[in-house]
Formats: sequence, C-alpha cells, structure tokens
Amino acid sequence: MKGLVLAGGTATRLFPLTIVTNKHLLPIYDRPMIYYPIATLAGMGIREVMVIVGGKSVGDVVELLADGEHFGLDLTYRYQRGALGIAHAIGLARDFVGDDAFCCVLGDNVLLGPELAHAAREFESGPWGAGTLLYKVPDPERFGVAELDPAGKVVAFEEKPKHPKSDLIPIGVYFLRQSAFGFIDRLQPSTRKELEITDLLNFYLPNDLYAPLYEGQWTDAGTVTSLIRAAELAEQESRAGRLFAPPARPTS
Ligand code: DAU
Repeated sequence: MKGLVLAGGTATRLFPLTIVTNKHLLPIYDRPMIYYPIATLAGMGIREVMVIVGGKSVGDVVELLADGEHFGLDLTYRYQRGALGIAHAIGLARDFVGDDAFCCVLGDNVLLGPELAHAAREFESGPWGAGTLLYKVPDPERFGVAELDPAGKVVAFEEKPKHPKSDLIPIGVYFLRQSAFGFIDRLQPSTRKELEITDLLNFYLPNDLYAPLYEGQWTDAGTVTSLIRAAELAEQESRAGRLFAPPARPTS
C-alpha cells in the first residue's frame, strides 16, 4: 500500500497563525503538526508516501521532511495550486499511486490508535472500493457527517450539514484504490468551490465502502480550539509512553 498526506489548503480558520507560515508546520505539543499524519502512515507499515503541498512556506515543509529517510520513509512531493478540495488533492497522486491501493491522511489529523495497521490490512485484502473510519464527535456540523439506515449502515455522507443526521463523522483517513481517480474526474465543485471528499465517498455507498468505527484517539487541528485539544492529546499520550519518538533532524 502507498501513502498520501494532504498538506495543501489555506488554513484561514487559523488566521493570524497561518498568515506567514504553513498550518502543517505549527507545533502540536513537541513537534510540527505534519509529523502526526506521517507517523500514522509509517505505523501502518507504509513506506512510499507522497505529500501534497500548497499554500504558504512550501519550501519549509520540504526542508522539514526532506526525503523522509529519518522517518524510515521514501517521500515525494506534488504541488496543489490553491485550496481546490481534498478530492482534488487526492487526484494529483494518480501517477504516483499507479495500480496500488493507498491510504490518504489529512495533514491536520492526529490519530494515536493501535488498530490502524489492522484497518489498512483489512481494507487492502477486502472487497471494498474505498474506506474511511467513523468517529463519534459532539460537534458533527464541523465535519463530513454519516447518515445511517435503521440497521446502522452508512447510506450517505454530507459535508458540514446545518442539521447533522448523526454524530458519526468520517475522519481524515481514506483507503482508496485506482477507481477513485475515475470518480474524481466526475466530481463537480461544491458551493464552496471544492471537490469534496464526502462526494467522492458517496460514489461507493451503500455497498462498496469499508467504514468501521474507530475506537482510538482522534482529533483534527484545523481550528484554534482543536489545535489546543491536539496538543493536550499528544501530551497525554506522551506521558503514557504511547507517543512515537520524534525522528532526529535530517542530515543535510
Ligand atoms: O478532519 C476530518 C474532516 O476533514 C472530514 O470529516 C471532512 O469530511 C473533510 O472535508 C475535512 O474537513 P475540514 O473542513 O476539516 O477540511 P480542511 O479544509 O480543513 O482540510 C483538511 C486538510 O486537508 C488540510 O490540513 C490540508 C488538506 N487539504 C485541504 C484542502 C481543502 C489539501 O491538501 N488541499 C485542499 O484543497
């Protein structure tokens, strides 16, 4: 399986923190934000990773992560011109992915659960066309939201609905295959002018989506409040000895 980290976008919700730097370079506890999704992929045993970069200070992101050797990864980069959406950013990885299954993690997602490697293996060897992980939150209107049928099966996702149909959201971990690129070609921009990941996932519903409940710890870090929550979560995990050791500086 290959990996994809999305670190484009404009991060307006974190202004003024992101006026002159890239959101994914902001500190979460004792390390830059982008170390977390990189470690999520490394923890799944993935070695070949593409980072989609965009927005401010792209050179600093590349300088920080370099060729990925200090994470035990082989990193390559692709530039996204503007915040054209998560599905658009995924579409930029078409040639890199080739015929392999891949896992995409959003650059502002912090996940510290041991079951991720299991989920990756289950998806890769399973019949599904795509997958994501569902997580219960108190404020679903901030995210993509799952609509479930009476049997508890996901029948649709809606992006940031005013009236959420459940409190289950797809977190920023997506398991995909080559079929995703054909669907991305058919997507139309939403009212906020983005190709939405939830619209991409909807192509696979109701029968072709792997969507287990994620029972580990998760937060995004895209707002000031969630940035604080992410730091608290990382500190708590560090004190419990569960936070991965930050890699040493790359040698230049
Ligand atoms: O965190 C989970 C949520 O992430 C999901 O529940 C939503 O369905 C999904 O749309 C997304 O919502 P956000 O509003 O939090 O996404 P945001 O625009 O903040 O983008 C998250 C990351 O994706 C960001 O850190 C960088 C990357 N990104 C985003 C966009 C719009 C890109 O690389 N390129 C982009 O064009």
